[in-house]
Amino acid sequence: MPLVTNKDVQLEAQRGGYAVGAFNTSNLELTQAIIETAVEKKSPVIVATSQSAIKYAGMEELSLMVRKLAEKASIPVTLHLDHGTDYSTIIGCLRSGWSSVMIDGSSHPLEENIALTKEIVKVAHAVGVSVEAELGRLMGVEDEISVDAREAILTDPDEAVRFVEETGCDTLAIAIGTSHGAYKFKGEPRLAFDRLEEIAKKVSVPLVLHGASSVKKEIVQWGEKYGAKFPGAAGVPDEHIKKAISLGITKVNIDTDLRLSFTAGVREFLQKRPEVFDPRKILGAGKEAMKKVISQKIDILGSEGKG
Ligand code: G3H
Ligand code: 13P
Ligand code: ZN
Repeated sequence: MPLVTNKDVQLEAQRGGYAVGAFNTSNLELTQAIIETAVEKKSPVIVATSQSAIKYAGMEELSLMVRKLAEKASIPVTLHLDHGTDYSTIIGCLRSGWSSVMIDGSSHPLEENIALTKEIVKVAHAVGVSVEAELGRLMGVEDEISVDAREAILTDPDEAVRFVEETGCDTLAIAIGTSHGAYKFKGEPRLAFDRLEEIAKKVSVPLVLHGASSVKKEIVQWGEKYGAKFPGAAGVPDEHIKKAISLGITKVNIDTDLRLSFTAGVREFLQKRPEVFDPRKILGAGKEAMKKVISQKIDILGSEGKG
């Protein structure tokens, strides 16, 4: 079917008390893994492309590929720009068939973030594209920070109310203690559920959780068994994701878990089948590994059968 917007699928998820997975793609096998699994599970799905993925694969190429696979699929699919910071890339996506864009002004002071987001909302809405914005900052791996500093970068509930009202964004990414990548926590995983609860009470637009990969031990050990090295890798446990959804998260962003499972699948295949040199078979092993992870995610998010 034709693409739908993030606003469409997230409002539906908000009503139904589940979340939709946003999976990052940058090539054919990733896109196939995402859409094929969503079809098998009858789940809506968000196909996310970062600016660097667009640079890697090409804007027109990614757009045509995702839209063609989505058109043939029997479930709602969105094509979403992840972490848009560059004005011309965002405009390019609006012209090239993306159905949803994220304007990430989170590195700017509040007033600038508001102005930037407002501008993108104006142009995106004019062409029927929904807009995700971000308030608060995700943690960085380097963030060995004090409690006060940690509190300061998390999303402030009252600022969120003002931000949504003034910008008109359709969905809001909030910072509650997650970070991108495979090294999210040094000690116990800790999310600011109290913040999330307060924000969800005060703000009516659907909420988004970035940096939500679970970096499961099994996947890490699977990769390491075949030569990968991920010392100290840690992610957000499934139970934390479920709790976040019960408190109002309707979009859960996953990239790292796909990368880890792809790597493990390809490493195992190469080691076990040294005679193979067909890229389709090698990448195919990675694709199958990713499909398993996507299927498990859909179970955790509760979106199976909602497409
Ligand atoms: O949020 C970041 C995503 O994991 C995309 O990462 O810029 O390496 O494509 P990337
Ligand atoms: P992970 O690195 O936890 O997969 O997060 C991905 C993300 O937030 C993409 O925007
Ligand atoms: Zn992100």
